[in-house]
Amino acid sequence: MANTTTAPHDDPALVAAFEARIAAGESIEPKDWMPERYRRQLTRMMSQHAHSEIVGMLPEGNWITRAPSLRRKLSLIAKVQDEAGHGLYIYCGTETLGVDRHELVNQLLDGKAKYSSIFNYPTLSFSDVGVIGWLVDGAAIVNQTILAKTSYGPYARAMIRICKEENFHKRQGFELCAHLAKGTPAQQAMVQESLNRFWWPSLMMFGPSDTDSPNSGELLRWKVKRKTNDELRQRFVNLTVPQVQALGLTLPDPDLTFDEATGNWTFGAIDWDEFQQVISGNGPCNHERLAARRKAHNDGEWVRAAATAYAAKRASASTEAA
Ligand SMILES: [Fe+2]
Ligand SMILES: [Fe+2]
Repeated sequence: MANTTTAPHDDPALVAAFEARIAAGESIEPKDWMPERYRRQLTRMMSQHAHSEIVGMLPEGNWITRAPSLRRKLSLIAKVQDEAGHGLYIYCGTETLGVDRHELVNQLLDGKAKYSSIFNYPTLSFSDVGVIGWLVDGAAIVNQTILAKTSYGPYARAMIRICKEENFHKRQGFELCAHLAKGTPAQQAMVQESLNRFWWPSLMMFGPSDTDSPNSGELLRWKVKRKTNDELRQRFVNLTVPQVQALGLTLPDPDLTFDEATGNWTFGAIDWDEFQQVISGNGPCNHERLAARRKAHNDGEWVRAAATAYAAKRASASTEAA
């Protein structure tokens, strides 16, 4: 007999059936029943992801007008434009969970929503474009390749498509870094300096350590996450260290050593105080990034008003025709 005092979404039989589907490796689709916590956790993760794509356009977008050649300018424009597409695609994904994307955009503009900490660091030289493509998009690929196996169907499918473009982003970044690393002493110094600045913030992109990640247990059980933050971070370090060596560059970590027993590159302590400062709004560029987003949103107001008026005009024309 149904327990009438329990809200339908808490019905233990429904939860058990849901968890059995997850355990059997089935994907959950928008019209399927899901626990409210699952819906909320996915909304949180997907909206943070969409915000990160959109805010992520800003640090590199700053360099479009100063790219040193037409080829570099074209690939940078294409990459930044791709990130806009990723953001819109994932915002659409959140709508399958019954959320209104305007609400999410407002949370970002109001400073209430989180996005990836890395985009609150400045881009001080053109080699930052290379290092961001290589490390930041590289870290995103490590994260998103696993997310492509997440239990929520629309998110998983979005990741498959997005990862293909992220691979292009990473390659253009690595190619730029390789070019600078083979260049003049000034170019070599420039790319090394960028790498030094972005290395630790890139490791922070995987989020808090497993010992300090309150949502991880539930997300792993529901196969929203398939690997822990620390596992993904380690994979990124293992993939990246040989690439750094191949370019003849170094990493700003005196504790970095190869552990023969585990096959892992062990690395030094991450400055979690810095991470906390940046995600709580006190990073070097948090204010600048939000101000740029608000300005873009306000500047685009007339476009939204025009599109809405045009849609209304078309709707009334088709009603009259009928
Ligand atoms: Fe992206
Ligand atoms: Fe990207």
